[in-house]
Amino acid sequence: RRFNVAVVGATGAVGETMLSILAERKFPVAEIIPLASERSAGSEVEFDGRKVRVQDLATFDPKDVDIALFSAGGSVSREYAPKFAAAGAVVIDNSSAFRYEDDVPLVVSEVNPEAARQRPRGIIANPNCSTMQMLVALAPIHREYGIERINVATYQSVSGAGRSALEELGRQTAGILNFQDPAPQRFPVQIAFNLIPHIDEFLDNGFTKEEMKLVWETRKILGDDGIQVNPTAVRVPVFYGHSEAVAIETRKKVTVEQARELLARSPGVEVVDERKPGGYPTPVTHASGRDAVYVGRIREDLSHPRGLNLWIVSDNIRKGAALNAVQLAELVAAEG
Ligand code: A2P
Repeated sequence: RRFNVAVVGATGAVGETMLSILAERKFPVAEIIPLASERSAGSEVEFDGRKVRVQDLATFDPKDVDIALFSAGGSVSREYAPKFAAAGAVVIDNSSAFRYEDDVPLVVSEVNPEAARQRPRGIIANPNCSTMQMLVALAPIHREYGIERINVATYQSVSGAGRSALEELGRQTAGILNFQDPAPQRFPVQIAFNLIPHIDEFLDNGFTKEEMKLVWETRKILGDDGIQVNPTAVRVPVFYGHSEAVAIETRKKVTVEQARELLARSPGVEVVDERKPGGYPTPVTHASGRDAVYVGRIREDLSHPRGLNLWIVSDNIRKGAALNAVQLAELVAAEG
């Protein structure tokens, strides 16, 4: 069977990658329907080597859509995802609009694929990019050794904030090298040659919403409300690929050798852990444009008897967003 697949936000950084990954993985597409706002309706995007015209989401009738991949922000999802689901489509939503609702499954394809089958509202939520890559690596360790606590600092690339953020980093970098004022627009302060310890809005507890996503989503996806997560989320001047310095505390001690061996046979993970210059993953050398979650710098915590440190890097637009969404679509397609 082939499926009519809509991509909502098809002109964006994630939407464009959804289109290319659907083609690359030979998803059984009958008709591809790129949707965006009125601004880019009528323009063309590429799918499988041909040009396809973008339609206006606001006036589009979803009745013939089988599967809809949404990546156009939370407010678009809140308004249109229920309409697509009511018209019979399975919605795979990359925004945070429905992630924390009990009747919407939140699924990482390698971690809890079975959860995607239970979707009373016709919506499956795609996790936040930082949680996604962290759990591809940590879920196997949690299953065997029981993770009690996670300390994580993220180093998140600008592509996670969309196309305009990619443009801002490029423009500021070139501008500053030419002695121009950085003129921040998309980020609150200069991002080129800088770091910003602030992603998404501030909440009452002093954490940002991006940080709390790591807490809420880890518990929901692993189905374990007892896991403690202490996050700091930082935006860095990298174009593609998020990195994470992760320190876990486990119930049962896990050695470096055991962790390496376990991760090496875990789906979606590649261990890059040679203790020499360049023997570790970075966004540019390993993650950007690739599908795997790369893990390196595995070492035992000097300050805790059951602590392990890991460095986790992945392409936030691919595994962190578009790839997982397409993998969820593949799970739905496999149901028949
Ligand atoms: P558009 O090109 O019409 O602005 P990014 O995250 O890279 O900024 O991309 C956001 C995506 O979401 C784009 O494809 C954008 O389309 C789309 N989008 C934003 N607002 C709307 C809206 N109100 N209706 C439909 N699509 C939207």
